[in-house]
Amino acid sequence: MFAAAERRLAEAGQPEVLRFWAQLSEDERGALAATVEQQDPAELRAHCQAAARARLAGQAPLSGLMEPLPEEVIGGVSRTEAETLRRWRERGFQEISKGHVAVLLLAGGQGTRLGVPYPKGMYNVGLPSGKTLYQIQAERIRKIKQLAEEMLGGKCTLPWYIMTSEFTLEPTERFFARHQYFGLPQSDVVMFEQRMLPAVGFDGKIILEGKGRIAMAPDGNGGLYRALTDNKILEDMDRRGVRVVHVYCVDNILVKMADPVFIGFCVERGADCGAKVVGKAYPTEPVGVVCRVNGIYQVVEYSEVSQETVERRNPDGQLTFNAGNICNHFFTVEFLKSVTEEFEPKLKPHVAVKKIPYVDEEGNYVKPEKANGIKMEKFVFDVFQFSTRFAVFEVLREDEFSPLKNAESTGGKDMPSTARRALLWQHYRWAVQAGAHFLDSKNNRVPVLSQLQEMEDPPVVCEISPLISCEGEGLEERLKDQEFHSPLLLTE
Ligand code: UD1
Repeated sequence: MFAAAERRLAEAGQPEVLRFWAQLSEDERGALAATVEQQDPAELRAHCQAAARARLAGQAPLSGLMEPLPEEVIGGVSRTEAETLRRWRERGFQEISKGHVAVLLLAGGQGTRLGVPYPKGMYNVGLPSGKTLYQIQAERIRKIKQLAEEMLGGKCTLPWYIMTSEFTLEPTERFFARHQYFGLPQSDVVMFEQRMLPAVGFDGKIILEGKGRIAMAPDGNGGLYRALTDNKILEDMDRRGVRVVHVYCVDNILVKMADPVFIGFCVERGADCGAKVVGKAYPTEPVGVVCRVNGIYQVVEYSEVSQETVERRNPDGQLTFNAGNICNHFFTVEFLKSVTEEFEPKLKPHVAVKKIPYVDEEGNYVKPEKANGIKMEKFVFDVFQFSTRFAVFEVLREDEFSPLKNAESTGGKDMPSTARRALLWQHYRWAVQAGAHFLDSKNNRVPVLSQLQEMEDPPVVCEISPLISCEGEGLEERLKDQEFHSPLLLTE
């Protein structure tokens, strides 16, 4: 075991990784050898050298090269007539009903900012139903599938691919099994694992976070493309007849699964690649901006853009770079094939300089006060540059975007309470639109309110199961001219 690991690490130029071998237990040795075994020595060497180089070179400044999106690539909910939206929706449902659509969840992140020791999708934001993000998403898939079947007749499948990492695969699998896949056919839920990469010190050496443990992290959500190849996912999609994929990230409580309007819009435009955006809530909001750099479509991540650029405004006062990325993408399977077969190696990793706990030469565990290492990640949207027909779809924030990023204790934005509130406001709006009335404790009607401030709760609590309605549809027959007390929990 030692000899094999030693050989690989020598080849990778990282022999120091085994410096505590003599002090490790059998189990620790086995685990370390297994981690080393997973890494290709030549790739590992290149990774460590690239990390050290990237730290010296810094990231190329993009701010000066950015241009806003040309109007012709943008479509959007508020800039489109109802009739056209209806047509896109129908087109999307046709694709779903023919089994051409899959949803793909990026769920390999560590959720460091939220700070829970389990995958983010298992988080319960405190809704009256107690549903987790995974359950809400699963139920939305069930409902969309049911609507497609009702609309166009016949049964269809809508597979759900879930990309996990070493941190999230096992707990996610167990969680889904414990909940009987939330009513979805197990064969339509396909979990697969992305790769991990070691963190590297400024000297180009792999960081040990324990005497027998390399500091490993998932290779970014752009690790998707290698993971698709590693796990033969595109072959699986071909077998099922899938042609287009709706990719999204785990933490947006308002995410529309396999959104038929977005799919219809992209398909009708003949797009190979598309992104949903929202107008930014405030200039420094931590969302990437979809734009062009040197004429090429790209997302410039919030961490990589200057303050001056995010603040820039047009003469009419609107932010120049206002197309906020909500991590909600459309890809054709053909496009994904061209990425995995040809373009993936061209994706440049992004460099994050971080504080990474380590063991020092004497084997003491150290929590550094200053940044000491580099993590390299690829980003899912970096393939936009290879698109030959790119489309952008602008949606309404209150209907489609409320991400869960931070712990409640931060007292800031994008927390469990803001996600819960966004969903409850949406369901309250749907109920009112469907003709429901709410009564207070004295049986007086509660006046209808609209949300003015983010931190404001809706006047009543109303939660509607996605199995009843996933977009506010079909609620009249249950709610019109009826009176309810709060909390109203509408379940199937
Ligand atoms: C992400 C977007 C950002 C967007 C914002 C909207 C990327 C790189 N950035 O930022 O442009 O404005 O969402 O909320 O997409 N993940 C993996 N594997 C990894 C790392 C992450 O699957 O190795 C998944 C996470 O589980 C999550 C998603 O990717 O579902 C987004 O990752 P996160 O780190 O939360 O990205 P943000 O910085 O919030």
